Amino acid sequence: MTQTAPPWFARASSIPSSWLYESFRIANEREREHPGLIKLHVGEPAFGPPESVAKEFAAAALDGRARYIDVQGLMELRERLAGKLAAVNGIDTEPSRLFVTPGSCQGLVALMRCLVEPGAEILLPEIHWPVHLQQALLAGFRPVFYRLDEHFAPDPESIRRVATPATRLLLLNTPSNPAGAVAGLPLQRALYDIADEHGWQIISDEAYEDFAFSGPHLSIAALERDRPARERLVNSVFTFSKGPAMTGYRLGYVAVSRPEIATTMRMVQESNIIAPSAPVQYAGIAALDASGDLAGNHDYVRGNRDAALSCLVDEGLLPALPGGGWYVMADISSTGMTGEEFTAELMIDHDVVVVPGSGFSARPEFGHDGAMQPLRPGGVASGLVRIAFCVDRDQLVTGVERLAGLVREKRQQ
Ligand SMILES: Cc1ncc(COP(=O)(O)O)c(C=O)c1O
Repeated sequence: MTQTAPPWFARASSIPSSWLYESFRIANEREREHPGLIKLHVGEPAFGPPESVAKEFAAAALDGRARYIDVQGLMELRERLAGKLAAVNGIDTEPSRLFVTPGSCQGLVALMRCLVEPGAEILLPEIHWPVHLQQALLAGFRPVFYRLDEHFAPDPESIRRVATPATRLLLLNTPSNPAGAVAGLPLQRALYDIADEHGWQIISDEAYEDFAFSGPHLSIAALERDRPARERLVNSVFTFSKGPAMTGYRLGYVAVSRPEIATTMRMVQESNIIAPSAPVQYAGIAALDASGDLAGNHDYVRGNRDAALSCLVDEGLLPALPGGGWYVMADISSTGMTGEEFTAELMIDHDVVVVPGSGFSARPEFGHDGAMQPLRPGGVASGLVRIAFCVDRDQLVTGVERLAGLVREKRQQ
């Protein structure tokens, strides 16, 4: 009798590392011989966390505040987060529905595990952060992709068209990675109403909440603040990696929609991590204490956007300046090259690293038996490249000028 690999094993082995990870690896290798490399491929900001964060982290580790704690996270931190969510995001929640997680990535993973069921579909944007796709596939969702408009914002009509009776979950990411799109109130209302009509849950990934430039950041959960918790749809995900720049600390948090999802989430979180790191959470409290000092980070990234990206709009590589976030997708298809060819030449001949777009629009295919074919990069973003604009301003300006120069050179050939 022939043995076939069990499907859970087959699926994980069909998902490659993302292009982000590959670019990270390739750039680090290249940098050893080319130390002047300009790195616009990774969202590592030019600024770091306030000094009080490191001090509190070290103090907590040194004075014994480093033991196992509650699976949901320190009560002191969750109480502070509930206050922040009410005051800043307009979200009505309470510590019992809040989970501190090791980076928001782990929060996203845990939520998807809570919400999956056999055959369930998740709606993802056609140009997406590849980690969202990896997470959805690993949880066992079948991903279905909705279209974006010319400014990379979700198209509600497309969401209606691609949804099926198996749809359970809609993923919204605003400001978005990779395109810096921001969903305004009318769009958020339209998406919420569709989800409500169909009884879907929503995951709202708000990692870039502190970097909305086209207007104030809006949290979709604020739309349901007057609804009883047991009827709510929105699970909101936040991180300390972006606003306070605590990328390496690994600290995020999730406000789940309903009490019964909190019950499931406690089990998922217990099985994944037992409890989040305690010293990191004390560092998080220090970051909340210093939140008044963080406006400069927003201004820095916005200043980068204005200083460096306008030339990409003038060259016709961007439809407009991004409404938020740390990244843009520049359209280099007028060069006749693919994103992969362009990024390779930009790195080798001009010492600038960006990420090819095709890793942001990969679409898995499934056989008749439901088994997933090996995932390959490709799709609608193949003629685009992603640029991180949270980095050092001089580096960014030089890197973008070189990129635009390469586009002009190729157009003339
Ligand atoms: C859209 C989005 N969500 C979540 C994250 C995860 O951040 P962390 O796990 O560091 O909180 C990132 C990081 O780049 C991101 O771009």
